[in-house]
Amino acid sequence: MPKVIAVTSEKGGVGKSTLAVHLAGALAERGLAVLLIDEDGRVGSSVRWAQRGPGLPFEVLEPEDVKPKALTSLDAVLIDTEGRPKRKELRALAERADLILVPTGVSPLELEATAELMAFLARDAQAARKSRAVLTRVPPVGRAAEDAREDLRDAGYKVLNTSVRQYAAYQRAAEEGVLCRDVRDDRAAAAWDDILTLSREVI
Ligand SMILES: Nc1ncnc2c1ncn2[C@@H]1O[C@H](COP(=O)(O)OP(=O)(O)OP(=O)(O)O)[C@@H](O)[C@H]1O
Ligand SMILES: [Mg+2]
Repeated sequence: MPKVIAVTSEKGGVGKSTLAVHLAGALAERGLAVLLIDEDGRVGSSVRWAQRGPGLPFEVLEPEDVKPKALTSLDAVLIDTEGRPKRKELRALAERADLILVPTGVSPLELEATAELMAFLARDAQAARKSRAVLTRVPPVGRAAEDAREDLRDAGYKVLNTSVRQYAAYQRAAEEGVLCRDVRDDRAAAAWDDILTLSREVI
């Protein structure tokens, strides 16, 4: 069975879809068979992302279009979730997933929301084992990511070593319906490098 990787947060607009789409892209580039399931039907969702462009190098499906049999031949399934999932939904997601990625910005408010979600997940031993915060939209200059990672780890939460830096290439990728590696931007390669490095921590 594929490794199921859910991307979720209690705060909206933190970078879930950006992370889910790009992580799926990095795994595909590495030759893995990957599917992205979009559990958020709204405008910013990954199905819409795929529809805006010439096509992404992996399939993006809504839950009702997923054929359970087809899953068995995959290496990884990414799940992009809605902005404000209910706690009951989070519990169910934690059961289905092998890994729960919680993207978070480095601002105090975002870190607070992330710590709260990680604390909720940590109430269940299995969910705690599966959960990782991912620092994203990190200012490329300065120590904000290192400080945030240290704070979260001091509080007992797992945090991936790789941060996703803040680059306009991600925004342009969403607008053009492609991956950041495919936009014309001086920082596109740096942005894509973050994702590839992150992907190796995940699978
Ligand atoms: N690493 C990044 N660098 C720059 N901009 C980013 C980065 N990650 C996300 N963004 C931008 O932040 C905004 C929100 O990102 P995204 O849509 O991925 O968040 P989301 O958590 O999926 O939102 P929602 O809760 O609405 O589903 C978008 O404009 C996106 O382009
Ligand atoms: Mg989203």
